[in-house]
Order: sequence, then structure tokens, then C-alpha cells
Amino acid sequence: ANLRKLIVECPKAELHYHIDCISPELFWRFSQRNGIDVPINSLQEAREFYNFQTLDEFLTVMLTAISSIQTENDFAEMVIECALDMVKQNIVYREVMFDYTACYGSRGIPVETVVNGFAKGLTLAKQQIKNLDIRFIANLDRTAPVDQNCQYLNELVKYRELLPLIAVGMDMQEIGYPPHKQADAFAIAKGYGFKLTGHVGEVVGPEGIWDALQSIPLDRIDHGIRAVEDEELIKILAEKQILLTLCPASNISLGVYSSWSEFPIKKLMNSNVRVCINSDDPPCFHYDLTGNLIKIAETFDLSTTEVIELIRNSFIFNFAGNEHLSNVD
Ligand code: HPA
Ligand code: ZN
Repeated sequence: ANLRKLIVECPKAELHYHIDCISPELFWRFSQRNGIDVPINSLQEAREFYNFQTLDEFLTVMLTAISSIQTENDFAEMVIECALDMVKQNIVYREVMFDYTACYGSRGIPVETVVNGFAKGLTLAKQQIKNLDIRFIANLDRTAPVDQNCQYLNELVKYRELLPLIAVGMDMQEIGYPPHKQADAFAIAKGYGFKLTGHVGEVVGPEGIWDALQSIPLDRIDHGIRAVEDEELIKILAEKQILLTLCPASNISLGVYSSWSEFPIKKLMNSNVRVCINSDDPPCFHYDLTGNLIKIAETFDLSTTEVIELIRNSFIFNFAGNEHLSNVD
């Protein structure tokens, strides 16, 4: 019970959170306001719509909800909702991912609309919340042709003064889309000075992580949980101190593991691999950062030291430098 209090009250950071995955409330509001044809007729139906078994089904559900997002104001409201949630959970720093190509570009929404909307939301949120710190990670759709992603990065970089863009990542379906296919896009991103991360080792096993490590100079790995199946890989991740941004509720929700007790976090921690806890897409997976931390702490009977280490890692390995480290001392 004491650990629960510590988790709730401790200042936290979150490094793996997709702002594209809107709440059922925003899905309902945006679809009504924008007159978008969606398969829901009430807020209740929007809530029930978030139902899936696999990564593919999840992505389809998420993209349908996302199809209700249209205007600059919509993007601004997404940031405001994200910021209010941070206050609620005592999250003082969050790196927020968005996948322009998969979620917005595919429907003809200009990069400018997305960037201006996020920037406007951030300005409005900062007027209400002191010391709010949100940074953005531009995720590449790994299922899109690499040339298209290179073009997108060359366009996006024109807006970097408008938004605190710190890194480039990669998401969407992992099966059939090995990381090395996006190596040229990540080389461009690195050239622009962005930090690099990517979703690997979520639904594909260790071979997906090996492929990424051999072709892209990643600073962190999103998910990466399935590294646990390969002793050699565990050794390398521990040696190189590459942080894995784990998302337990997400993995359980998508059937990567069948229960919380099977989530192999203890083996990684005991092997000296750096990990932190994240919510991924909380409207879909039903646990926020605090909820994920409590569930992990209780399932594995973690010590206070272990819980603090998990929270601390999200500050130590953030992409913004060390201005938040005093929060965890
Ligand atoms: N995996 C791949 N793509 C995603 C995810 C995920 O967990 N969440 C949002 N886009
Ligand atoms: Zn994710």
C-alpha cells in the first residue's frame, strides 16, 4: 500500500506515449464536430469501439478513431488533454509520439496543420500549467516506402522551430517490415540532429531487434521486451545501456503475453538491462503510466528501490538532457 502511494505521489516521466491514439471522448467529439462518417453513434459506442485482439486489429481500430481528427484545433485539444493527464498523474515530463504518415498524411492533412495545432495546444496548456514539459517524437510508418519517409523528414524539419521535436522513431506493423528497410530515413534523421528510437521486439522476436541494431544507430528501443528470449542480445543491451521503453499493459492487451505475471521484466532487470515503464496508448489499453507501475510493482512484489529505479530510468534516459534529474534524487 505504501508502494502504491509512492508511485502515485512521485514525480514521473513517460517516454513511450502515442498522442495519435485519442480517447473515446475526443473520438466522439471530433467525429460530430467535423461531420466525419464513422461507425459509432454515441459516446458509449465510441467506448465499445476500442476492442481488438491483435496488433493489426488494434491498428485498424486506432486508425478509424484517428480518421475523426481534422483541424488545427483538434490537434491542439489532443495536446491539452495529454497535458491535463500529466497533471493528474504527476508526470512532469513526457515525450509524445505522433505518426504523421500513417495517421494524417494518408488523409491529405498538411504537416503544417499538425505542427501548428500541436504548437497551439502546447502554448495554451503552458498558460495553465506551470513547468509543463512535453517534447515530440516523429514516428515513421515502417510500412511506408523509405523514400516517402525521407521526403517527409525533409518537409518536417522545416517546422522544427515551431515545435520541440527531439527524436525520430518508427511504429505500425512490425511483422514483414524489418527495420533495415528504413535505415536511409534514420540516417537523414540523425543528420538533422534528432535522437533515434523505434518499435522493435514487440510482436517480432529477437531477430527484429538484431536487425535494428545492425542497421540503425538507435539511442533507445521502444518495447524490445522480446530481447529476453536471447541471452547474447541481453548481454549487448546491458553493455551498451540501451534503454527499453516497456509497455506491459499494451503487450498483454495485444496478446504478446497472456498475463501480467508472464511479463518478463524481472529477467531483464536482473540482467542489468535498463528498462522503464510506459502506457503506449492508454485509451486502448486501459492502464495509464501510474496504473502500469502499480500493477508491475504488485505482480512482482518489487522493492521500493526497484520501483524508484524504474521511475528514475525514464528521467535518466530522456532525450532532453538532464534538466529533470533533480526530480528523482
Ligand atoms: N506498436 C506499433 N505501432 C503502434 C503501437 C504499438 O504498440 N502503438 C501505436 N502505434
Ligand atoms: Zn508504441
